[in-house]
Amino acid sequence: KNKLQGKDFLRIGDFTKEELMDLIEFAIKLKNMQKLGEPHRYLEGKTLAMIFEKSSTRTRVSFETGMFQLGGAAQFLSSSDMQLGNGETIADTAKVLSRYVDAIMIRTFGHDIVVEMAENATVPVINGLTDDAHPCQVLADLMTIYEKKGSFDGLKFAFVGDGNNMSQSLLMGCAIMGIDCYIAVPEGNEVKQSVLKQAQEKAKLSGSSVVQTYDPHEAVKGVDIIYTDVWASMGWEGDKEERLKLFADYQVNEALVAGAKDDYLFMHCLPAIRGEEVAAEVIDGANSVVFDQAENRLHAQKAVLASIV
Ligand code: CP
Ligand code: NVA
Repeated sequence: KNKLQGKDFLRIGDFTKEELMDLIEFAIKLKNMQKLGEPHRYLEGKTLAMIFEKSSTRTRVSFETGMFQLGGAAQFLSSSDMQLGNGETIADTAKVLSRYVDAIMIRTFGHDIVVEMAENATVPVINGLTDDAHPCQVLADLMTIYEKKGSFDGLKFAFVGDGNNMSQSLLMGCAIMGIDCYIAVPEGNEVKQSVLKQAQEKAKLSGSSVVQTYDPHEAVKGVDIIYTDVWASMGWEGDKEERLKLFADYQVNEALVAGAKDDYLFMHCLPAIRGEEVAAEVIDGANSVVFDQAENRLHAQKAVLASIV
């Protein structure tokens, strides 16, 4: 019987190296089955409710397509069209949805909202992005790294940019899998101290290290992977002008990537803004794997769904 059945998928740090490795192997198997046209209807007749309080292209389409390919169905629910938007509580929403559907995915602002949903739902809850974490993206990213590099052993990873949901989940994922992780942020945009501390503890267990710096050139020196993300995440659009100035020296461009290994991978969760966090030559260049990452959202989430539901 599946060990993860009934479990929520809220943070990458809630899972062990073995559990994440099993999910990645399962995702690769599902990817092959889908390419070969082999049926894999593990969730026949099951439904997923998807609540969105923020925009989405990849998360929405990959979850909906994934449920369909697994033999089930997904429902897109914009929070403003739900009674949630009129003040119905998260707890009541969680209890009601649990009477209809087999799993709930939610994309929202505060991480506490996802936790409250999970505490009150009797079905598994999946975090489709909060201000603090984006575990679905990181599982797909680890899968992409594994496919491209063949193993996690001895890899060095650098994140350059904002200490946001992506960098926080990435450094946790790298620390668990044993990838050395460097993160370069402008002063005042560090990852949360509690997240850094937890990642450093996990890194100790896996024999790797997590280092935060203010110097992007130092972070990317000799690395196998360079990752970046937008400078103004959803919810921070109002600070955009100020942030453009603050992050100006943190653009991932030809000059910066020159410090990495020749066969480095460029990664980005997308959506990206060319000319801001990344130069077009880099994201559209030969080392970029951003569309493989986007594709793997589908396969990785199918592995999660088929395991927890
Ligand atoms: N990377 C990601 O989660 O994309 P969307 O915002 O389009 O879902
Ligand atoms: N950090 C970005 C990721 C989008 C997928 C945001 O939160 O908007």
